[in-house]
Amino acid sequence: MRHIISIKDFEKRDIEALLDRAEAIDAGTYDRHALDDRILGVLFFEPSTRTRMSFEAAMARLGGTSIDMGGVEASSVVKGETLADTIRVVSGYADAIVLRHPKEGAARLAAEFSSVPVLNAGDGAGQHPSQTLIDLYTIRQAMPLEGIDVGLLGDLRYGRTAHSLAYALTEFNVTLHTLAPQSLEMPPNVMEGLKDRGVEVVRHDDIEEFTASLDVMYVTRIQRERFPDTASYYAVASSYRVTPELLERAREQMIVLHPLPRVDEIDPGVDALPHARYFEQARNGIPIRMALLLGVIG
Ligand code: NCD
Repeated sequence: MRHIISIKDFEKRDIEALLDRAEAIDAGTYDRHALDDRILGVLFFEPSTRTRMSFEAAMARLGGTSIDMGGVEASSVVKGETLADTIRVVSGYADAIVLRHPKEGAARLAAEFSSVPVLNAGDGAGQHPSQTLIDLYTIRQAMPLEGIDVGLLGDLRYGRTAHSLAYALTEFNVTLHTLAPQSLEMPPNVMEGLKDRGVEVVRHDDIEEFTASLDVMYVTRIQRERFPDTASYYAVASSYRVTPELLERAREQMIVLHPLPRVDEIDPGVDALPHARYFEQARNGIPIRMALLLGVIG
């Protein structure tokens, strides 16, 4: 049984094999009945649009079915059921579980109590491995993954997509650049982990110079829901914005990614520029999640 908990569990060749599989799926090469009698249990303890819907769509494209716990308020969670019990029960109903939870480490814990594979769809500020595979796939559609400059912009403290992507990129020979509001820098444990994996991290404080240094700009939303209070959120809200004027500084081939949803960190005027790839990125959720589901329950 294979759980998908953290991108750190993936080696370069696993990542490449998965991206290759997604590419074949994108080209139409897959068995529409591969998961005909399979059921995916969908457990989201936090809001989601893309991740939930694209997992369900991926399942449906392969002939499978999804069963959704629904919102936390509609489930036995409000009666005080523990995550461990919910997982034990749902693993008796489904062939795999996709879980999103506000607590870091929740997916790892769930895997201990599950008799079926668990796919981590985001655990607090921890990891979001399927999003990272989408990000890598979208980069690879535009340029080789080796030897590039990748810049992470925004909430690098609470942003799980930034943490996951940074770790994954250590498998490739990239230079990482960061730019974050002062209170939202990459946490020391992630910085240590990146250093241990031999990756150079260049910290910037000038957004124009940052922009000019990149092949890929990965923009993230300030993760408002993870702040201890509203005052600390408002202290950093709207502190950076990617605009068409800023992108005049960018390398011609630079691409802009964002896991979405965006709030105000990318000006809608950017959407029409050739740099903007975030809607393709969202679309890439389908082939990537199809490849993942085939890998764990195919
Ligand atoms: C992200 C998440 O949930 O971590 N969304 C997503 O899955 N595409 C990013 C975010 O919420 O900002």
